[in-house]
Amino acid sequence: MTVTEQIEIRRLGATEVRAQLDGLAAVLADCVEGGAGVGYIAPFTHEEGRRVYEAYAEDVEQGRRILLAAFSFGALVGTVQIVFAPHPNQPHRADIARMLVRRSARRRGIARLLMERAESEARAAGKTLLVLDTVTGGDAERLYTRLGWTRVGVIPGYALSPNGRPCDTTVFWKAV
Ligand SMILES: CC(C)(COP(=O)(O)OP(=O)(O)OC[C@H]1O[C@@H](n2cnc3c(N)ncnc32)[C@H](O)[C@@H]1OP(=O)(O)O)[C@@H](O)C(=O)NCCC(=O)NCCS
Repeated sequence: MTVTEQIEIRRLGATEVRAQLDGLAAVLADCVEGGAGVGYIAPFTHEEGRRVYEAYAEDVEQGRRILLAAFSFGALVGTVQIVFAPHPNQPHRADIARMLVRRSARRRGIARLLMERAESEARAAGKTLLVLDTVTGGDAERLYTRLGWTRVGVIPGYALSPNGRPCDTTVFWKAV
């Protein structure tokens, strides 16, 4: 018998983020271990990942960001966030951040589902302009191009990859 994978995308409130800290930390740690340039240097521990998402839970509670998670057969396999611009002159703008899918769950369209839901959640929150940046030449750059994001350009040597090597960043925007 073939079991069809059911991917469920859920918006997590602050209490749910706290309840899912282990799942979220595991996804982040897996991505950093896999070499993803998402803000951290290796080695990156599960405990550090929990602390990172504890801080995000606080932001979710304060209405400063929205956190989405993807579940496959009940297990958390991916996540993304919509971070509202803090300045009063940008009430219509948000950043897309921390798009992460576990290595074992990639290439099944989970990031696409997360981004489609992120865009609709952003619209529902009154945001019409989204911005993001990502490592130049990575899998995510292809994803965003495929999903209709406009490439602004490349900033050389913007950040360090987990192994400490400098990498370039590509900036994108999308009107939603
Ligand atoms: C970038 C990232 C989020 C993409 O996640 P994903 O769930 O694998 O993305 P998708 O499945 O939607 O698309 C990935 C590829 O799988 C392909 N794909 C999607 N569904 C598929 C399916 N059912 N069968 C085969 N291939 C499929 C897509 O066409 C795409 O192909 P491409 O990379 O050759 O263009 C993931 O690689 C990741 O977490 N990377 C590390 C963290 C990172 O860099 N995040 C970005 C921060 S800005």
